[in-house]
Amino acid sequence: MPRQLLVTAALPYANGSIHLGHMLEFVQTDIWVRFQRAQGHEVVFAWADDAHGTPIMLNAEKKGMTPEQLIALYHEEHQQDFRDFHLSYDHFSSTHSADNQALVEVFWQRLNEGGHVVSKTIEQLYDTERNMFLPDRFIRGTCPKCGATDQYGDSCERCGATYEPTELIDPVSAVSGSTPVPKKTEHHFVTLAPFTNDLQQWVRSGALQDEVANKLDEWFEQGLRDWDVTRDAPYFGFQIPGTDNQYFYVWMDAPVGYLSSFRQYCERHGLNFDAWVNPDSSAEMHHFIGKDIIYFHCLFWPAMLKGAGFKMPTAVHAHGFLTVNGTKMSKSRGTFITARSWLDHLQADDFRYYLAAKLGSGLADIDLNFDDFTQRVNADLVGKLVNIASRASGFIHKFGDGRLSDTLPDAALYQTFIERTPAIANDFEQRNYNSAIRQIMALADRANQYVDEHKPWQMAREDGREADVLAVCTQAINLFRVLITWLAPVIPNIAGRASELLQTDLEHWGGLEQPLLNHAINTFKPLSQRVDPKQIEALLAASRESLEAAEPGPENQQDETPVDTLNLEDEITIDDFSKVDLRVARIVEARLVDGADRLLQLTLGLNDDNPDLKRQVFAGIRGAYEPDQLVGRLTVLVANLKPRKMRFGLSEGMVLAASGDGDGPFLLSPDSGATPGMRVK
Ligand code: MSP
Ligand code: ZN
Repeated sequence: MPRQLLVTAALPYANGSIHLGHMLEFVQTDIWVRFQRAQGHEVVFAWADDAHGTPIMLNAEKKGMTPEQLIALYHEEHQQDFRDFHLSYDHFSSTHSADNQALVEVFWQRLNEGGHVVSKTIEQLYDTERNMFLPDRFIRGTCPKCGATDQYGDSCERCGATYEPTELIDPVSAVSGSTPVPKKTEHHFVTLAPFTNDLQQWVRSGALQDEVANKLDEWFEQGLRDWDVTRDAPYFGFQIPGTDNQYFYVWMDAPVGYLSSFRQYCERHGLNFDAWVNPDSSAEMHHFIGKDIIYFHCLFWPAMLKGAGFKMPTAVHAHGFLTVNGTKMSKSRGTFITARSWLDHLQADDFRYYLAAKLGSGLADIDLNFDDFTQRVNADLVGKLVNIASRASGFIHKFGDGRLSDTLPDAALYQTFIERTPAIANDFEQRNYNSAIRQIMALADRANQYVDEHKPWQMAREDGREADVLAVCTQAINLFRVLITWLAPVIPNIAGRASELLQTDLEHWGGLEQPLLNHAINTFKPLSQRVDPKQIEALLAASRESLEAAEPGPENQQDETPVDTLNLEDEITIDDFSKVDLRVARIVEARLVDGADRLLQLTLGLNDDNPDLKRQVFAGIRGAYEPDQLVGRLTVLVANLKPRKMRFGLSEGMVLAASGDGDGPFLLSPDSGATPGMRVK
């Protein structure tokens, strides 16, 4: 049964260029969309630019434009980037559209009618020079908890505390530099607590990844707070009906943009919008998002949908962040790479392939490591995949006049490939792209092995073996066709060229059972190119230059998303922490390790009366301690760490030591009175 799927990626802010981090998400979405279409499902990939909010308003002002002009520029630029990364979206709109405004008002009216809106007077910091209330991220000051200076209005980057901007010590407006003052204003709030049951039920429907569902459970435990959806003028957004100087917070109208974009698509293509989005519809709604915006998509948005009588999302799929060469993208290192700079130096499909090879269904960050990237693209795409087609197609022209033979010499091998389709499809469905790629590349090895075993180039030199060469190459081309069909959602551009070579459509998995026989193919043209490390150097150099100019002022801040929902993975619960078994231990022996300058071999006693209770640990503290200094003293041992085999022997735990930039390590020890074996908690 064909499914009906509305699929979205998060709406990029119309306030800056698309970078590779965004592109991770859009490519992840696009692979899934293309995969679903290849199964014969009806898919609409609809999304938009997120056009509202204070940063966009200020940025436009700084550039001497209206916000409308600014967002129009990015609307064009974004779509050009999307097309060049081969994103196969069906519709791209803007949240600053009359259609979106109309739909936001429908949501608003229904939420009001349902009694889900309350008004409260609140106090916010106000910039008296610019006559505006300041969003949290536009206030800097001293952290009220730890005293760190120059922190944001909502959270401290040093100690991780979250707080109200009015609690900040010595606040400064990032817009004007003046000292903001607290000022009262009346705001509308959407009450979320009454939706708790619906949301819990929704979570149980399997809409979320486990990690995300657990996070929601914590939020439920804390109780859902009312959500402030009002912003005072000046603000670039939609005015709240019935007020004269209040606007909807950008996060109110942004997710509605998913539906208004989809509705525009429906109107243009004769689809029945209501039939897709009513609560009983069997059509599915899938949102792909980054881990930083889970709160909005897993609490606010489903509550809004519920409250306004729409279908709740079938699933929200969250992903981790892209890092480059192991660290956060950085402008000074040249690793803050825009989509356009990538395209100036490298192929879009290579990026897509590399990401797919690394992306799983979880929230782990994904590292773009350029050495690994080069190696993988060259080895897999060029060396393994394209190689099959380039080797075989030449002989088909030489001996078969470009026509494949009419039987497969090894139908069983072909069948082995076909039988793997359901497992590979399942991986794509579950967003385990990395596993799908592993399976496909293992079969590519198998195909190359087949060619190597039969050595068509050798047969070609022997008389009377033309038919054999043709048969072997027909087999190879057919294996290639299966591989490239599976990979088409990942590398659509290479697949497009392969489709020209094979003179057949590669977009549907349904036709694979039937091999291509007695079928004319084209002459071979290169399907993809090797990556040269020089291209990467050029990319990094260009990224460094192009971004040096753009130092971030508040107006270059891309969003005003509060940060208190971040750090999903950094945060652990008491339960997590108590899994770590920390024990006081006595160093009974310390020795140098042959061939390891930084290591000491420690024997740690866990009971002074029982010498048998001991552990051997290799610790990287040689730089700061002589073995003799250590014998007899107490330290802290991670006692339940999985033992690790090292070159020198088994390491059965870890000792705790502090270190700073170039300083240390400093071994931790308990105050006097503690004895070996005591639990540290
Ligand atoms: N406008 C909001 C989304 C509104 S959806 C109703 C927004 N925009 S954004 O431009 O900041 O980010 C768009 C998407 O890109 C988000 O899902 C975000 O998580 C993702 N990413 C932004 N930087 C990223 C990385 N470095 N790595 C992976 N994804 C990243 O948030
Ligand atoms: Zn702090």
